[in-house]
Amino acid sequence: MSIMTTKLGKLTLDSPITVASGTFDIENFHFINQKCLGAFVCKTITRYPKKGNPTPRLYESEAGLINSIGLQNPGLDLFVHENLPMLRDKLEVPLIVSFSGSSIAEFEEIMATLETQSGIAGYELNVSCPNVDNEGIAFGVDPEVIHQLCSRLCSITRREVIVKLTPNVTDITAIALAAEAGGADSIALINTVFGMAIDWKTGRSRIKKGIGGYSGIGIKPIALALTYKAANAVKIPITAMGGIYTWEDALEFFWAGASMVALGTANFIDPLSAAKLQEGLSAFLIEHRYSMRDIIGKCIL
Ligand SMILES: Cc1cc2nc3c(=O)[nH]c(=O)nc-3n(C[C@H](O)[C@H](O)[C@H](O)COP(=O)(O)O)c2cc1C
Repeated sequence: MSIMTTKLGKLTLDSPITVASGTFDIENFHFINQKCLGAFVCKTITRYPKKGNPTPRLYESEAGLINSIGLQNPGLDLFVHENLPMLRDKLEVPLIVSFSGSSIAEFEEIMATLETQSGIAGYELNVSCPNVDNEGIAFGVDPEVIHQLCSRLCSITRREVIVKLTPNVTDITAIALAAEAGGADSIALINTVFGMAIDWKTGRSRIKKGIGGYSGIGIKPIALALTYKAANAVKIPITAMGGIYTWEDALEFFWAGASMVALGTANFIDPLSAAKLQEGLSAFLIEHRYSMRDIIGKCIL
């Protein structure tokens, strides 16, 4: 056990740092030592391939990114036959597979296939997708659906089940409690916040689809507040993300109650972000003789 060791549900990880789904490719390990991460979270996969949304689908705003990638991914079959063997081969840290479905049955089908595969430490359920059984309303906004989804999926796996929550809800507490009651081992938050940008001169949306997902430094206070709220509502651990760029940002999230932090947009700005975070955090812990347990959730009001 090192001072950086953190516990995330069933997993004991060597570092409390990870990467946010969809923002970090395994190729980035050319720049940093992967051991600075406690785990690697891959881009969300879906049952069938998705070619994503029309371009432009990425816009750098004043304080972060607006994206509308649209879950572009190779689909479950190709992931299992091509991506997964490569990840198994190259990864030296636990792999968390992020996936999403359009119905509870589809989530089950994907997990059942992944259960037959080795080299997976856990799953991150991306519940920001519209639910076909629920008039297209995203899974993540309905506590009852989240509860049902978690109960069903947790009954078919012994691996870590992480539920990744959307911030685009009225009461994050109700959703977090539903995930916990459904048996989720931990929670990850936040996914992107609805955002839009328009060229003031031409009136044209910067994103082809209009509204996209806003991430980066601009959403940090929102992510911090939601982390604090969720951490005070549930007993299961939290992986926090949303505008974390530096080790100082990460510390704010640990004080607020996160057991782990993930870097997202930061990876596009500086591919060395995770390594720098690891170095800065470790130096801070050593200087103050803290272990992770001394700071997680110890924010003073
Ligand atoms: C380009 C891009 C692609 C993303 N793709 C995914 C994805 O496939 N699955 C997912 O759960 N979140 C995805 N996200 C959301 C991030 O994982 C993260 O939750 C969000 O960006 C907030 O963190 P950040 O402010 O550090 O970027 C994506 C974000 C960006 C910017």
